Amino acid sequence: MEVRPDDLPDGLVVADSGGRVVCFNAAAARITGRPGNEALGSPLQTALPLEDLDGRRWWQLADPYHGLAIANGHPERNLLLPGGHEVLVAARYVRSRPRGPVERVVVTLRGTEARRRTERSHAELIATVAHELRSPLTSVKGFTATLLAKWERFTDDQKRLMLETVDADAHRVTRLIAELLDISRIDSGRLEIRRQPVDMAAAVRRHVEGHLAAGRPADRFDIRIADALPDLWADADKIDQVLANLLENAVRHGAGTVTIEVEPASSPREPGEKATAVTVSDEGPGIPEESMSRVFTRFWRGSRRGGTGLGLYIVKGIVEAHGGVITVNRAPAGGARFRFILPVGAPAFLA
Ligand SMILES: Nc1ncnc2c1ncn2[C@@H]1O[C@H](COP(=O)(O)OP(=O)(O)O)[C@@H](O)[C@H]1O
Ligand SMILES: [Mg+2]
Repeated sequence: MEVRPDDLPDGLVVADSGGRVVCFNAAAARITGRPGNEALGSPLQTALPLEDLDGRRWWQLADPYHGLAIANGHPERNLLLPGGHEVLVAARYVRSRPRGPVERVVVTLRGTEARRRTERSHAELIATVAHELRSPLTSVKGFTATLLAKWERFTDDQKRLMLETVDADAHRVTRLIAELLDISRIDSGRLEIRRQPVDMAAAVRRHVEGHLAAGRPADRFDIRIADALPDLWADADKIDQVLANLLENAVRHGAGTVTIEVEPASSPREPGEKATAVTVSDEGPGIPEESMSRVFTRFWRGSRRGGTGLGLYIVKGIVEAHGGVITVNRAPAGGARFRFILPVGAPAFLA
């Protein structure tokens, strides 16, 4: 199959053994703002008048045709086009035999917009995190300062109330930091899954018991476990995190009865592989159709009652790290319905 240079998403510039441009694709024309037919046949340094960040002319430094006969190119680096336009440039010097003359110089060009976008989203993340940390810490600082300055003037009840607020805010900061660490592991692909046998039905029951022990009425939960569940190998702690988040959301953002169903399913990735599906649905307001694609993004929250807005992002990261999928839609009773499917993940020797 033939790929035409104009089909490439990156700029491509090729010069022959004499340093004349023989290829200047459409992306190169767009990135440099110079029509391809004008560049063709002209010397490489005229067609691509690159400078490094100190204003030195790049081709004099790189000098593919007269430099070291062992040089085979340059890794990608940030260079400037006339007008200070930034561009990412990589080059290969093609020789037909080692140490022979350069026959072709192949240069790729990439705009810096993609990197800019990433940088902007990092900046936004930092701003959000700073804001999320500042509000609880402001309250911690305010209450401790007040208590220290006017300890004698408060009744025990007032003091207890303030300390409870401080405690809750400190807890919030700790949780936020734990969530941020999870996110950084998910984003960098370092989330480690340690598989062991997991009894999903028992895990679900344990979580519901936790809610009952915390004083929630028993009729808020309905557990439905199918017979003949396949043996599941998963990271027990992380599955706990997933269940805890989904149940907490269903109770806090939802309403009515929270129904948790566990049933066999087929693997979303490997046809033929068995899987376990867990569905958590409630009878609350649900998630508006237009927001469904956003619930799994970081910091998205639909209401003021929300926490950090990181829970579902982490849930999705954990499910996907297991090779599973998670979806959201509308429950028959109108609330939110979250469903995740985990392939059984049995060790190869047992499969
Ligand atoms: N069961 C639910 N019913 C209604 N809305 C929900 C439900 N679960 C999640 N949401 C919405 O999705 C948002 C993101 O959830 P999440 O990532 O867990 O963040 P948080 O719970 O910290 O707000 C919530 O703020 C809420 O608006
Ligand atoms: Mg949540």
